[in-house]
Amino acid sequence: MKNIDVFVLFVLIRLLSVVIVQTCFVPDEYWQSLEVAHKLAFNYGYLTWEWVLGIRSYVQPLIISFVYKILQFCYADNALVLIYVPRILQALLSAYADYCFYKWCGAKKWAIFTISTAWMWFYVGSRTLINSLETALTVIALSKFPWNTKSFNESNFLWIVATLCVIRPTAVIHWFPLCIYYIVITGEKLLSIVFRKFIPIGVVTLAASTIVDSYAHGSIVVTSYEFLKANVLNNVGEWYGTHPWYWYLTSGLPAVLGIQIIPFVVITLHILKHRHEYQHDLALLGCIVFTLFVYSCLKHKEFRFILPLLPMVLKITSSHIARWSYKAAPLTIWFVTAIILLGNIVPALYLSLIHQRGTLDVMHPLRLIAEKNPHSANFLFLMPCHSTPFYSYLHINVTARFLTCEPNLQNKKNYIYEADDFYNNPNLWLKHNYPRNGTFPTHIIVYDNLAVYLSNILSMYKPIKKIFHTHFPRERKGKYIYIYQLA
Ligand SMILES: *[C@@H]1O[C@H](CO)[C@@H](O)[C@H](O)[C@H]1NC(C)=O
Repeated sequence: MKNIDVFVLFVLIRLLSVVIVQTCFVPDEYWQSLEVAHKLAFNYGYLTWEWVLGIRSYVQPLIISFVYKILQFCYADNALVLIYVPRILQALLSAYADYCFYKWCGAKKWAIFTISTAWMWFYVGSRTLINSLETALTVIALSKFPWNTKSFNESNFLWIVATLCVIRPTAVIHWFPLCIYYIVITGEKLLSIVFRKFIPIGVVTLAASTIVDSYAHGSIVVTSYEFLKANVLNNVGEWYGTHPWYWYLTSGLPAVLGIQIIPFVVITLHILKHRHEYQHDLALLGCIVFTLFVYSCLKHKEFRFILPLLPMVLKITSSHIARWSYKAAPLTIWFVTAIILLGNIVPALYLSLIHQRGTLDVMHPLRLIAEKNPHSANFLFLMPCHSTPFYSYLHINVTARFLTCEPNLQNKKNYIYEADDFYNNPNLWLKHNYPRNGTFPTHIIVYDNLAVYLSNILSMYKPIKKIFHTHFPRERKGKYIYIYQLA
């Protein structure tokens, strides 16, 4: 295949993901990007505590807000356009990252196959999630990494790595071992690399990001430093749930890799046995193990944190499967291909189209209601904090409220966040909070399994919409979402 054909193929796959992925993955996709960009561009939008403290880089929201501004200038700031254009941009970057992956793998057909079928990358590659950006930039940097001796003087990838680390400070975790490997293989003197490359590139990038962040934040702020302070010193991450140390091994990695975990384990054993032949693979394995180790030590764990490891794993598996395929029987090759394809398509489609779609679907009727009554509509989301997107999906400045879950930043005694306070005794909470300034919300958005407990207040309302959310309801997340309207 010609390079341009491969690139077009990747663009088509990522654009397909923009259309097919219609479900919620994690709240950060909206609250840490679109919502902030909406606030920057249109002056209304909700800023979570991370943005009040200034612990997140503004680079991604600024880019999106710039696009929003252009759309507004062209009178194209329709809500759907505002939702889809940032996703299309991320999809195009992901497609370019796929192309870089293909080049990095030596332009092998198996590389095209593994990256375009990877279910997790299909699921998140077109989301406006910082981890999608992080993974795309990691792949681009890896493809420019001086893997062969001829390109040792190439340090362009260090600029990408430095940018990545100021945008997403945790990227340091997987780039630390790779930078050590870079020092080892270049054969240059350590001091010379540090003083001629690492320090100048790091200082310039940090200065540029500080200028950008301070401009957007409105006061001088070094977001990566604030991020470290909040996460290491105050441990706010643990506020959002903890998992046992082995979670990445038993759940995290298997879920992110999907069926690819089988060839990965087999190939890892093979690499360890013939470790003198596969120096680069060994380095990537070392990076994967180191990253998993560090993340396993942190109590707050999420699937998306280890997303940047996915392309490294796929690089290892695709090169070994390609080598194996030269000798294998055609029937066996077809069989392996079919298994990998099926093993990825099933979770990709189910999770993109069905699981957790209600919290996005509910925003469309709400937007129509808000458009009709921009001054009187008043939404109350009685759901766990950040369950749905907010103003970025409404694009109308209506009154809306959700239950918050801010960490205890002031170290108050017996602190309990609003959502927990509500769930402890929903009716009592509602009695204390409503009517508010003499009015009740015009619409209450609530899961079916909670609605049955709210007969006091809901007796004044009638359900107007029932929206499917998931086949796997949990304590605070029901199968359906209801919109109740004040009668
Ligand atoms: C949005 O609405 C709030 C509350 O009604 C108001 O204070 C704010 O100025 C509005 N913002 C814009 C940009 O219209």
